[in-house]
Amino acid sequence: MTESVGTAESTSEPTLSVYDAIRRRRDVRAEFTGKPIAEDVLRRILGAGHCAPSVGNTQPWDFIVVRDTGTLADFADHVAGARSRFAESLPEDQKKTFDPIKIEGIRESGMGVVVTYDRSRGGEHILGRHTIDDTGLFSAVLAIQNLWLAAAAENVGVGWVSFYDESYLAELLGIPDPVRPIAWLCVGNVTEFQQVPDLERFGWRGRRPLADAIHLEKF
Ligand SMILES: Cc1cc2nc3c(=O)[nH]c(=O)nc-3n(C[C@H](O)[C@H](O)[C@H](O)COP(=O)(O)O)c2cc1C
Repeated sequence: MTESVGTAESTSEPTLSVYDAIRRRRDVRAEFTGKPIAEDVLRRILGAGHCAPSVGNTQPWDFIVVRDTGTLADFADHVAGARSRFAESLPEDQKKTFDPIKIEGIRESGMGVVVTYDRSRGGEHILGRHTIDDTGLFSAVLAIQNLWLAAAAENVGVGWVSFYDESYLAELLGIPDPVRPIAWLCVGNVTEFQQVPDLERFGWRGRRPLADAIHLEKF
């Protein structure tokens, strides 16, 4: 990242507990203000992503900061197509539930951070990936979770968009083979964080009780 990435005034690092950040974090779609986030805030958020653990210490992620309005518009149009196709695939009752649900804030956030995964980083012999190839991808996803929690601590919203064809996004952003775009994250200032996830509020799907997720000794 060589050029300036924000115009708003800088702020000092927040001192929220990790539990508070976990509780505040939401997938944000409708609450973006469009006001740019400060450069040092963006740096801290990306820095948190870059602190993630990774298999063989490969650090297989990169972060592409996208603010060009033409690129945001192109991607938003592409995502709208993917959303329509998903809606058409649904049975009538699920389609009705899905209709009012917003699945992205690409234009409104004013910024996308595209996280990529480079499987070739670190060469052929990746310590720890020889048995489970997915651990490379897991590592890049951990960078996203770090970034997401740091953003919540900074009062910055993040919305993960996955309604896209990988090859389209790779071409749009000039991502070379074998690097894969694994997430488009809408990142920006927000009016508020919802208390309840959108998919729960709109009746799509709620959170499972913790007790159902905990197993003792065997699955
Ligand atoms: C891998 C992944 C892909 C996602 N893709 C989308 C998406 O395309 N559009 C969207 O609105 N939310 C997307 N989400 C957000 C989830 O819908 C959201 O995390 C979930 O409903 C729980 O809400 P919360 O994050 O606010 O707790 C995605 C989340 C993950 C982890």
